[in-house]
Amino acid sequence: MRDLLIVGNWKMHGNTIMISELVDEIIDGLDASSSCNLLLCSPFPYLGLVSQRIINSPISLGAQNLSQHTSGPYTGEVSAEMLKDMGCEYVIVGHSERRELMGETNKIIANKFITAIKSHLKPILCIGESLDERKQGMTTSVISDQLNTVLNEIDSNDLSNAVIAYEPVWAIGTGLTATPDEAQDVHAHIRAEINKSSKKVAENIQILYGGSVNGNNAGSLFSMPDIDGGLIGGASLTSLEFLSIAKATNK
Ligand code: PGA
Repeated sequence: MRDLLIVGNWKMHGNTIMISELVDEIIDGLDASSSCNLLLCSPFPYLGLVSQRIINSPISLGAQNLSQHTSGPYTGEVSAEMLKDMGCEYVIVGHSERRELMGETNKIIANKFITAIKSHLKPILCIGESLDERKQGMTTSVISDQLNTVLNEIDSNDLSNAVIAYEPVWAIGTGLTATPDEAQDVHAHIRAEINKSSKKVAENIQILYGGSVNGNNAGSLFSMPDIDGGLIGGASLTSLEFLSIAKATNK
């Protein structure tokens, strides 16, 4: 039985007041009976603030990106060790916005994944097809390519410290969501790909769904056998919506 994980990805939103209030409201609204794990991925400048506020709560801290390098003259970059130092346990790697807008290739993403693992940060590897790719029937081949570029570079045991997020690009921030069946098909494909390297890792790895998840559609998505939680963008910016998604994890 895999634990469910709900991740808030705030992207480039928020300020000191808004983030302080949001975190406090989420902690206050947490249902003691809920068994899911909650993770908040803050913009870099607020990691310290969130880290302080979640002390003594069941919430974990993550970042949205890291440098592929460990240290050195890389102006504006943030290393895995710095993230650890700020209290991060997780880091998002290869989000489609970074692939598309920042030119991150599968190779760079594989490097970031390895850097995170070496620093004992758990990478959340995002993979997903575009609308064109889906229309052309390329979904599974795109997913396999994105996954295997990383799998080929690592020991399959390293995956046991990672999370995968399936995020169809056409569903991110659009209000369009993959149906539970569409998402389940891709999640099962991802698990089958991982199974080729390790049955044990494939059984245990958490595979999250992301793309316009909200309080209304979360329950049906999370009820699917291979969907182990969600990576939540827009709906993680309001405490009520985020908490209603967390509550939908009672499978
Ligand atoms: P969304 O974003 O929930 O706003 O669609 C998800 C993501 O980009 O991780």
